[in-house]
Amino acid sequence: LLIAGTWVVLGYLMGSVPFGILITRTMGLGDLRSIGSGNIGATNVLRTGNKAAAAATLLLDGVKGALAVLLAGWVTGDSGAMQIAGLAAFIGHCYPVWLRFRGGKGVATFLGVVLALSWPVGLACCAMWLLAALVTRISSVGALVGAASSTVWMFAFARWDLLLTGTLLTVLVFWRHRENLKRLKAGTEPRIGQK
Ligand code: G3P
Repeated sequence: LLIAGTWVVLGYLMGSVPFGILITRTMGLGDLRSIGSGNIGATNVLRTGNKAAAAATLLLDGVKGALAVLLAGWVTGDSGAMQIAGLAAFIGHCYPVWLRFRGGKGVATFLGVVLALSWPVGLACCAMWLLAALVTRISSVGALVGAASSTVWMFAFARWDLLLTGTLLTVLVFWRHRENLKRLKAGTEPRIGQK
């Protein structure tokens, strides 16, 4: 229990670093909270017009999730600890104490965590995410398709051990996209790059 607790705290703290906010502030790109969807993720950073900042946000938000998982793996060698660290990092990104628990939607962190837990599953999710985003030109659709597909890939690559964690992460990604889901239903969700 103590070991699990350690990874909950460490994972949470790593995930809670809001790179979108840090990068846009450092680069003087304005207040992310008052741009576009107000979200702290890469999609919204792209709405500042700065592609490099958006790419860096995507990468670093992903890396922090992957790193939490890999760190737990290196120290404990235990898959359970890795999954706990990954879930905690994801929750840290979505509900960071530093932003009064109003964080991101977890897409980049989801991809980083899943890649670190199983790179074949992660790569397949990334492919689905990119494909759906490219075809529809809507970032949230890519995110939702990519996340939902994780269950299929966990079956396909016989990673039954990851199914519970994968399902939890996917449900949370959908929960964090409830405003996007409403906009998608209403047909008002903006395309990538639109304000
Ligand atoms: O990664 C979040 C993306 O799926 C949607 O972002 O800013 O359009 O709500 P946003």
